[in-house]
Amino acid sequence: TILILDFGSQYSHLITRRCRELNVYAELMPCTQKIKDLQFSPKGVILSGSPYSVYDADAPHVDPAVFELGVPVLGICYGLQEMAWNMKGKVTKCDHREYGFAQLQMRKFGTAGSSVDALFEGLGDEMQVWMSHGDQLSEMPEDFHIIGSTKTAPYAAIAHNSKPFYGIQFHAEVTHSTQGKQVIGRFVLNICKCKTNWTMEEFIGKEIARIRQICGSKGRVIGAVSGGVDSTVAAKLMHEAIGDRFHAIMVDNGVLRLNEGAQVHKMLNEDLGVNLTVVDASDLFLSRLKDVEDPEAKRKIIGNTFINVFEQEAAKIEAAAEKEEKKGAEAKGKIEWLLQGTLYPDVIESISFKGPSATIKTHHNVGGLLKDMKLKLIEPLRELFKDEVRALGRLLSIPSHLVQRHPFPGPGLAIRILGAVTREQVKILQHADNIYIEEIRKANLYDQISQAFAVLLPVKAVGVMGDKRTYEQVIALRAVTSEDFMTADWYVFPPEVLRKISSRITNEVEGINRVTYDISSKPPATVEWL
Ligand code: XMP
Repeated sequence: TILILDFGSQYSHLITRRCRELNVYAELMPCTQKIKDLQFSPKGVILSGSPYSVYDADAPHVDPAVFELGVPVLGICYGLQEMAWNMKGKVTKCDHREYGFAQLQMRKFGTAGSSVDALFEGLGDEMQVWMSHGDQLSEMPEDFHIIGSTKTAPYAAIAHNSKPFYGIQFHAEVTHSTQGKQVIGRFVLNICKCKTNWTMEEFIGKEIARIRQICGSKGRVIGAVSGGVDSTVAAKLMHEAIGDRFHAIMVDNGVLRLNEGAQVHKMLNEDLGVNLTVVDASDLFLSRLKDVEDPEAKRKIIGNTFINVFEQEAAKIEAAAEKEEKKGAEAKGKIEWLLQGTLYPDVIESISFKGPSATIKTHHNVGGLLKDMKLKLIEPLRELFKDEVRALGRLLSIPSHLVQRHPFPGPGLAIRILGAVTREQVKILQHADNIYIEEIRKANLYDQISQAFAVLLPVKAVGVMGDKRTYEQVIALRAVTSEDFMTADWYVFPPEVLRKISSRITNEVEGINRVTYDISSKPPATVEWL
């Protein structure tokens, strides 16, 4: 395992990902982590970048014990400065903040001047790197030497004379540093000598064994599924581990996409063999949503109603099971666990030394269930990034169109219908959205887009049909590309695709006479309209 200590850089999670892409398990922890409290022995440590300057009064600092662990340490950007700060080097403000590309010249060593440092072995004499810093090293720490420089940063890469300590001023973890992944590879594979045993094949075996151990031989697990990648993969994994002791529940809240309940049932139950109940609670949800326009109120109602319905369904499952067992069926026990498809980014967010970031929108979750039902939580995906979950899904034979599916929010179409949500409005939006996605798939563009959906605007616009004037609602189309949905850019469609979509929606969807395309990025807009 590589331990990555996070000083709050926006790129910290990328360091973790790069290690894992090299099949080395890496764990991100806050920089305030005390080394003596670690539950594992890392084979190497990476110190991340940071928005702070090491001399700031509130600057985060690492436990100096990290340099006594006897394992290699690599400092990236602030990490380098922090290492130097600990070892009597000097850091000063640059005249101008350096941001962008630079050429790193690797220093040559050896009698014939033919070799570079082990960190850059086999990577040539020069590479393009990405810089983003306001401070830089101005005096070398004790017992260090230069292994690479750029025009503006003479100490852009340094190494200790006798210990395996390295510092790089550039961000090797971002793809703009063209050989950055190789540099991280030299560190974790050649210098730390980590084993390359982090693969999804190994993960499946280990995780199934772990679930079986946690769940023992009795007791049931329930979990909500939405048809999205995370809950589907988590459900299939549970099914592989404990078979029918796992029950999946899908709540049809009346604001799902067209035919979604039936599609999820077919895939999860008929194709993948998972024990699944689809509950149609659309009447209850829509009645509680009646006349509600405020987006946060919609989210709250949907979140709370979801918990009510889910609990009722769980009680039914338990009652039915007791009845069966009384008749002599094999006793599988009571419901003891709740499955959740929590991913690693959520875990990172909750352990950040700065505390979780500010909430712009409250995303609905099922946390309330744990308290009400006294269930224990089981989270088989909590170590994984989204792309790892997708790889896992493929190995578990989940169809590729699902594995690649765009995210869909818990409150569903309720936050894509501006104004009040009614069955009629839902029907209009489902129909338009379905045409939109169908055409995107036909044009082979689905995988280039991170998220695409239609939004229903309850304003009336004038149109003309035949000789008659129409007065109907508007559909806004949204498609964005994004790495992590914290920022997003609008997608540039080929015009003929937009033309086809618009023509189909205005012709086929009753009640719509106008289609617009949303060209706002995030920020200042958000991905969803509500
Ligand atoms: P925003 O609109 O915040 O969206 O830029 C970022 C990502 O989050 C999704 N989103 C939600 N997901 N419950 C969810 O489960 C919600 O209430 C919710 N609101 C936004 C959004 O679809 C996008 O992927």
